[in-house]
Amino acid sequence: MKIGIDKMGFYTPHMYVDMNKLAVARNDEPEKYTIGIGQEKMAVPPITQDAVTLAANAAMEILDEADKEKIDLVIFATESGVDHSKAAAIYAHHLLRLNPRARAIEVKEACYGATAGIQLAKGHISLHPDRKVLVLGSDISRYGLHTPGEVTQGAGAVAILMSANPRVMVLGKESAYHTEDIMDFWRPLYSKTALVQGKYSVEKYNSFFKTVWEDYKKKTGLTLKDFAAICFHLPYTKQGLKALRLVIDEGTAADKERLLAHFEVSKQYNKIVGNIYTGALYLSLLSLLELNTDIEDGARIGLYSYGSGAVGEFFSGILQPNYREYLHVRHHRKMLSERNEVSVQEYEDLFNQELPADGSDIDLPVGNDPAPVLLSGIKDHMRMYINKDQS
Ligand code: CAA
Repeated sequence: MKIGIDKMGFYTPHMYVDMNKLAVARNDEPEKYTIGIGQEKMAVPPITQDAVTLAANAAMEILDEADKEKIDLVIFATESGVDHSKAAAIYAHHLLRLNPRARAIEVKEACYGATAGIQLAKGHISLHPDRKVLVLGSDISRYGLHTPGEVTQGAGAVAILMSANPRVMVLGKESAYHTEDIMDFWRPLYSKTALVQGKYSVEKYNSFFKTVWEDYKKKTGLTLKDFAAICFHLPYTKQGLKALRLVIDEGTAADKERLLAHFEVSKQYNKIVGNIYTGALYLSLLSLLELNTDIEDGARIGLYSYGSGAVGEFFSGILQPNYREYLHVRHHRKMLSERNEVSVQEYEDLFNQELPADGSDIDLPVGNDPAPVLLSGIKDHMRMYINKDQS
């Protein structure tokens, strides 16, 4: 049975900060941020956006009534959860008006969570081919002002509709994965920002890639020549290039040229959004599929997922006939081009705005946020969400 990605949606907030200006404000050379790290703009979320609203905004654009009826599993991957008990998937399920005869759960393993969701969805659909699964990867990446990780922040969500006989990409059965208990990046329950051993995390990302790539080749017999492109989890775009360079010499000159050229295409969205943790690999896939001009139907795309802590996985998919027709490229280009730039001072002010931590109520300024789905406040310890398109 063919199972895979039928539709892909994406949402990022309406504001960004320019990395050249952030570099100047931090007394760094702009080239460090734009070339050394490989980021040009960083999404800045207003206080009215959280993991739930970002995900609901991403899913709204792709789901029609027939999809909503057929979705009976919602898997919400995030490391920016809003509650220790209640799954963010339930809020999203409600905001999207999905069929109540559904399961809705939240999964966690750092940036790997959405890949876990996709693999679980494959199992569910193989048992129930007439059903669909909505996988959401949604995050706000926060390291803190004036930290080395600051340049790798971002915010956004990807929504992936998984089905049998998908129209965009059929995912392969074989996958290579690896788990090790390491402390490269984590966020303790008491902290609003991530803790990271930066250089060590880069080292582990790379070594996990080599491990799962070798294992994948053994399991499948595939080599670089079989891939039109390889997409990477992109905490910042240079990281994917570092990993690709570790294996690129295994290929011919033509393989190198093709894979490096397609890597350039696959980083375009990420370099102007920033790290969106669980959604970052799929944002890169979206960038590749929506912006390439030469990848034919039937081409194989490799995918490397990495979640600190850590789990890594390599798998691949085959593009389906006329896959471009099922993408939402115009919508995404418009969303990205209509964003407003904020100054470094405004970004810092927005970063420092926080919801009350003492249980008090708050009404949020919903008029300042053009997104359809918003967090409107907190009342009696409960988060209040609105979907402007449904009110
Ligand atoms: N022009 C061009 N390049 C320059 C430059 C200049 N003027 N100045 C510096 N650079 C280059 C450096 O040579 C370096 O390049 P290489 O990595 O290729 O050597 C690059 O810019 C970065 O410079 P530093 O290493 O000095 O940067 P740093 O010490 O400030 O930290 C970082 C970089 C470790 C990535 C840090 O931003 C960080 O901790 N980020 C968060 C952690 C992270 O993203 N880890 C990735 C793997 S973990 C993961 O993937 C999970 C996840 O999502 C978090």
